[in-house]
Amino acid sequence: MNNVLIITGASRGIGAATARLAGSAGYAVCVNFRQDQAAADRVVADIEAIGGTAIAVGADISVEADVVRLFETADKRLGRLSGLVNNAGILETQSRVESMDAARIHRVLATNVVGAFICAREAVRRLSTKQGGTGGAIVNVSSAASRLGSPGEYVDYAASKGAIDTLTIGLAREVAGEGIRVNAVRPGFIYTEMHASGGEPDRVDRVKVSVPMKRGGTPDEVAQAILWLLSGEASFTTGAFIDVTGGT
Ligand SMILES: NC(=O)c1ccc[n+]([C@@H]2O[C@H](COP(=O)([O-])OP(=O)(O)OC[C@H]3O[C@@H](n4cnc5c(N)ncnc54)[C@H](OP(=O)(O)O)[C@@H]3O)[C@@H](O)[C@H]2O)c1
Repeated sequence: MNNVLIITGASRGIGAATARLAGSAGYAVCVNFRQDQAAADRVVADIEAIGGTAIAVGADISVEADVVRLFETADKRLGRLSGLVNNAGILETQSRVESMDAARIHRVLATNVVGAFICAREAVRRLSTKQGGTGGAIVNVSSAASRLGSPGEYVDYAASKGAIDTLTIGLAREVAGEGIRVNAVRPGFIYTEMHASGGEPDRVDRVKVSVPMKRGGTPDEVAQAILWLLSGEASFTTGAFIDVTGGT
């Protein structure tokens, strides 16, 4: 029987790398995307090319009805869920707090916090041994920003990741007796297209001198940590954080 995994925001970046690695490790992967169906289809094709199973499902995780449909689609097409990677996240143009309006802050929190909570809710409803499930694992993709605060760039984004850290701790303890482990990775500066959303596509190359290891990370390096947290090798690990930051 397959392990079935939903990965939100898996059309590119860290989510896509995690989907490919999970596909090669034998997971049947639900590749969620918001807009870019073609990119999600390429991730699915890569997994199928190595003999794996994957489907692409469009859903905006900031919309509750979309999240419900995402999980129901995975149920129908892939079978019983065994894990969730709560990965989808956004940031907006670099800005100081004094220049942020409420609409921007709501947008960031709607995807990064509310979306992650609703996805976690749907996963717990399926995985919990109290609700007829057989257990499983949730990995939240937080950020080193939750510790660093991202001053002058996006404190709203950093605060959303602070909320993800608290979700990880609280939910881990809430469902630990129900067969569900909940952990998080906190990536540092990783080469993805996310930095272009902040208005600085080459941000990682600018800031890498501040990293103790003097380089940015790759999506694959984050994916490896996520896969370990999902796996049985992490069977006694819950409410934990793996910083994938090169020492930042
Ligand atoms: N890159 C870094 O340096 C870094 C560092 C720390 C933490 N992280 C975290 O790692 C995660 C992945 O980041 P990334 O760098 O890989 O980002 P990315 O390259 O910008 O990719 C973001 C992914 O999320 C999807 N997405 C965005 N909003 C969504 C929504 N409302 N519903 C569903 N999907 C949505 C995008 O789909 P579409 O393309 O279809 O819109 C895309 O697949 C995020 O949570 C981010 O905060 C990244």
